[in-house]
Amino acid sequence: MASHPVILGVGGGIAAYKAAELARALMERGCTVQPVMTDAAREFIQPLTFAALTGQKVITGLFGVRTSDEVLASSIDHIRVAQENALLIVAPATADLLAKFASGLAGDFLSTLYLAFEGPVLLCPAMNTAMWNHPATQANVEILRKRGHHILPPDSGPLACGTVGAGRLPDPPRIADFAIRLLTQKHDLDCETILITAGPTRELLDPVRFISNRSSGKMGYAMAEAAATRGARVILVSGPVQLTPPEGVEVVPVQTAVEMRDAVLAHLDAATVIIKTAAVADYYVAAVPTHKVKKTAMRFSLELEPTPDILAEVGRRKKDQLLIGFAAETENVVAEARRKLLAKNCDMVVANNVSADGTGFESDDNEVVLVTRDASPIALPRASKRALADQILDQALQVRLSLHP
Ligand code: CTP
Repeated sequence: MASHPVILGVGGGIAAYKAAELARALMERGCTVQPVMTDAAREFIQPLTFAALTGQKVITGLFGVRTSDEVLASSIDHIRVAQENALLIVAPATADLLAKFASGLAGDFLSTLYLAFEGPVLLCPAMNTAMWNHPATQANVEILRKRGHHILPPDSGPLACGTVGAGRLPDPPRIADFAIRLLTQKHDLDCETILITAGPTRELLDPVRFISNRSSGKMGYAMAEAAATRGARVILVSGPVQLTPPEGVEVVPVQTAVEMRDAVLAHLDAATVIIKTAAVADYYVAAVPTHKVKKTAMRFSLELEPTPDILAEVGRRKKDQLLIGFAAETENVVAEARRKLLAKNCDMVVANNVSADGTGFESDDNEVVLVTRDASPIALPRASKRALADQILDQALQVRLSLHP
């Protein structure tokens, strides 16, 4: 098995004990793990635990000046450790560490190493819910995200402090799997922020009823997973679906077309690529009754208004971002896709025939045609949505290269 050299930075939080399990999970997946502990981490767990698990000398203390009695090698320095490793994982990343990293403070070995490290960084915050939600922490996380670091947001559940909420370190095997993906996949999207919409929207008819469509969200979630795996920051604006979001993706849940538009516009400026996979309802009830509509013996008709066309609005507002639409068609697939491409000012439209058997809505496979402004349509034969997602991203990068050589 190939060996991946990684640094495991351990911060001083109660979840520090889980970092020992993470070290083990990383090693089981073929990593050599260099543990680095902050002084605060040593209040929670002994360096000896990491030394025994990883077979490595554990780096503690400040710049090698204040050494750990147990295990510090005298020759260790932050530059060498930075250069010898392929990934820096920090788990738990405490509020203090996030603040240090965000502002570039380098008062201990881990924060100095962070500045010296030029490879990918995976931060796994864990802390009390109020600390996580604090605007200072969220602002630091935003800075670190914009810097291109991968952030695995904390899970929700019971916390050591006795409260219930967001703040738990994700399970170590999940972190380790994500780390392996970062180490083994190509990283051609490292500098991108990709805004993806997925799933259907639900348009309320009254407080208990809605109209929607058959979209499962599988294509959008596959796009999100592919983009995140290739290093992009992914913001996934998702209608109601029964899917687990891919690891490392920021999910913005929405219900209606109007909510989806608002979420998309709120994140538009941050995005370098926008992919509109969602099957947005075309009509909605503008004035939803506040009470359940009662049954009568009379005929009943609904007055529906067109929903905002989000793709068209983004097409009008976009600057030099790449805009990719999807087109669900049952006939004249390429011609309809081209019409939408021009009408909505897209750079590429991914067209699929949703009436074909075994592809399209709800299925795991798809078969699409990519329609761009200048090149001939490219037919991508039937494949899993996940495999197609990578091919669509490959073509999107080609289109951008042709627009901005
Ligand atoms: N779309 C959107 N907002 C809408 C409707 C559609 O952003 N209100 C986007 C979809 O996310 C997709 C593209 O527009 O990327 C095409 O969606 P599609 O349903 O195929 O086309 P429509 O424009 O709705 O046209 P029609 O239903 O007539 O085919």
